[in-house]
Amino acid sequence: MDIYPPIFTRASTRKYEAHPLQAEAIEGLEAFISSVKPLLPDVLLTHRIVSGNEVKGIALPKAPHFLMVSGREHPLRKTAAGFLYQHAELWLYANGCATRWLGVVKPKQDDPDFIIGMAFGKPAGQAERKTADFKRKPLEEISKGADPRLEAARLAPSGMNGQPWYYIADHGALHTYCKKSLGGLAGGLYHLTELDAGIALCHIAVASEHEGIPFNFSAEKKDAPEPPQGFTYIGTVE
Ligand SMILES: Cc1cc2nc3c(=O)[nH]c(=O)nc-3n(C[C@H](O)[C@H](O)[C@H](O)COP(=O)(O)O)c2cc1C
Repeated sequence: MDIYPPIFTRASTRKYEAHPLQAEAIEGLEAFISSVKPLLPDVLLTHRIVSGNEVKGIALPKAPHFLMVSGREHPLRKTAAGFLYQHAELWLYANGCATRWLGVVKPKQDDPDFIIGMAFGKPAGQAERKTADFKRKPLEEISKGADPRLEAARLAPSGMNGQPWYYIADHGALHTYCKKSLGGLAGGLYHLTELDAGIALCHIAVASEHEGIPFNFSAEKKDAPEPPQGFTYIGTVE
């Protein structure tokens, strides 16, 4: 299954058909998630696929399935979660489904390790668009230097469409940075910018495979260039 094309066409939706997906589709999704190489081997992530009866939150879309992600304490657990489960998101689009990441969803059963959820199912209506219709910042605003994978990163989804990422392309390496806060009143309450950066790193990994470029991520590159003001270093793709 090629998960590269949906990067350029996917659109989050809030409208799903009520009926659950076939058991084989869920099994296919589980098998795919197990096959993804994690961003960082030492981050322990788990997930559960549950129905709407097991989740709570304000203004949740009515979806037949929710993917609920948890992870043990680790400085980069949100980034690793965004990376792994954005692969799942793209797989779902490649298989005729649609999704919406949800910062507002929580499991009804308390889980201190809970990080983020995602609604998914068959879309009731349009969940695709032309690349030109993505509302995103231009490349010049989010990057310095040229790299064929930057367009895929630019199109990544993010909470409040904040696109809190910045890249410096440097002789085949991509140094990755992210804003800690989106700023403003609502932005100050949003604590998932590092997860957004992981989502965009997934797009870079998928684009790397498409371009035949190796993808190796290190969070400890000592000589990474200084980021623009307001951004912090996440890691380097080499
Ligand atoms: C980490 C994250 C959290 C999000 N949380 C919510 C949410 O709580 N409610 C919602 O309606 N959309 C949420 N979204 C969806 C974004 O608003 C959406 O991805 C963004 O506007 C870009 O649109 P697109 O996904 O169609 O490209 C979230 C997206 C991400 C990546």
